[in-house]
Amino acid sequence: MKSVKESILDRRSVRRYERDTISEEQMALIYEAIRNTPTSYNGQQFSVIDVTDQAVKEQIYMLTGQKQIKTCNHFLLFLMDYNKIELIADAKNLDMPDFTSTVDGVIVGVVDATLAMMNAVTMAESLGLGSCPIGYARTAAPEALASLMKLPEKTFVVCGLAIGVPREHPDLKPKQPESLVIHKGYYRSDRDAMTDELLAYDAEVGEYNRTREGTKSDNDWASHIVDYYREAMNYRMLRALQRRGFDVAK
Ligand SMILES: Cc1cc2nc3c(=O)[nH]c(=O)nc-3n(C[C@H](O)[C@H](O)[C@H](O)COP(=O)(O)O)c2cc1C
Repeated sequence: MKSVKESILDRRSVRRYERDTISEEQMALIYEAIRNTPTSYNGQQFSVIDVTDQAVKEQIYMLTGQKQIKTCNHFLLFLMDYNKIELIADAKNLDMPDFTSTVDGVIVGVVDATLAMMNAVTMAESLGLGSCPIGYARTAAPEALASLMKLPEKTFVVCGLAIGVPREHPDLKPKQPESLVIHKGYYRSDRDAMTDELLAYDAEVGEYNRTREGTKSDNDWASHIVDYYREAMNYRMLRALQRRGFDVAK
């Protein structure tokens, strides 16, 4: 088993997997890591669907266009989940406030599901497995996926996670330098220096993309990210949330 340090610092997204299956013992550890996620109020406002059936994985691939979903061994879907608390509140005759109609209710569920995914990533990595988060599981076809997964009201797909035995070892991607990520004491006010550091980072990513192992590209960092945002302007997440019973109004 890899150390925590190695599991976190040597992690990279892996998108190609061997056909090997992940053992039950390894999956049990990943499930334990997911269960032990810190959550708001200890409310555990999340659930995970573990998809292993190849036909179902292929259907999700058709909806999202992400190849990793059909080639991975386990595809985990991380949901924000208020269905469980509503079930027990109903059974105990508790008066449920309309928390799921608030932005904070959505943030709480999204944060819980995301932290659970990160715990799974780190445990998978420590076991020598490879993983890749799949945000398109949320954005590509929210209604079709919800119906395929038989999701009840008050649940919402936050992110998918493909896990498998790695078939590639991509170079680590350069990340923003510590000076841009960790603001000591207060948020930095030296905008010009920050811009220079961002431009240097942008050039570093450009160089990485031109020279990395495997598929190369001419992308720099900033325009590539801005292009993603432009594409994301077409997602209709508010409507998708509302259709799942999150009538976000405040
Ligand atoms: C929330 C989230 C959603 C992501 N969605 C996708 C995705 O749909 N497809 C994909 O290939 N990679 C996806 N990724 C992986 C990112 O592209 C990857 O983390 C990023 O490029 C940094 O590379 P690294 O993970 O190797 O450090 C996602 C990552 C996160 C955290």
